[in-house]
Amino acid sequence: MSNIIPLNERIIVALDVDDTEQAKNLVKKCESHTRYFKVGLQLFMGSWFETVDWIVDRGHKVMLDLKFFDIPETVKLAVEQVNNRGVSLATIHGNDPIIRAAVSARGDLKLLAVTVLTSFGEEDLRAMGMTQSIEDLVYFRAKRALELGCDGVVSSGLEAEKMRNDLGEKLLIVTPGIRPGANVQDDSDDQKRIVTAGMAIKNGASHVVVGRPITKAADPVKVIEQMQQEIAGVV
Ligand code: C5P
Repeated sequence: MSNIIPLNERIIVALDVDDTEQAKNLVKKCESHTRYFKVGLQLFMGSWFETVDWIVDRGHKVMLDLKFFDIPETVKLAVEQVNNRGVSLATIHGNDPIIRAAVSARGDLKLLAVTVLTSFGEEDLRAMGMTQSIEDLVYFRAKRALELGCDGVVSSGLEAEKMRNDLGEKLLIVTPGIRPGANVQDDSDDQKRIVTAGMAIKNGASHVVVGRPITKAADPVKVIEQMQQEIAGVV
């Protein structure tokens, strides 16, 4: 796995902006270095499929991160709206019947199951009445998602190593919560399970998702270049 993915597809830039215009500007700034872009809730609510189709037509890859979570039939119908339009990855959430319904409708789409959000710490799980450790829950959900036909998972870089070792090379592990080294310990960040791009890939992630460190940077390309150097050093 690690050698097959080109360096310009390792970093998925999260286009967390309000509208198509801003998204296009960001894509144009970054596309010389990376060709993978994530459209999430904020941008999708602002532009529906307009930005998605534009990125696909430009020849780049799209991860559509809407984290579908609903009754199985609704999730199935939602996935049908996304498949066969050039999107590479989509995110879903849920228990076995929900995942099965999504898998049955995916067409050419690769599906990622969200395990535990990278903004959650152990205390957040306890507050929701869950007793397992994050690492155990992520592993349990990843194993199940793979058995049910998902192509991969979204998890932090901290849980990637065990999944990569035990669940094999084929599993896609897509890792948000990426921060440059200096910011890894920033307590004001909403992301709690944070690693650097290099650490995530070293631990077994196939891709990293990076939002604010790139979107808020004075020079986004410089940040991408630095992260790509880290990644190139560990694959
Ligand atoms: O700005 P930052 O780098 O924290 O952005 C991370 C992106 O990854 C956001 O778009 C967020 O919605 C997304 N994401 C996440 N954790 C997940 C799944 C997606 O942070 N488990």
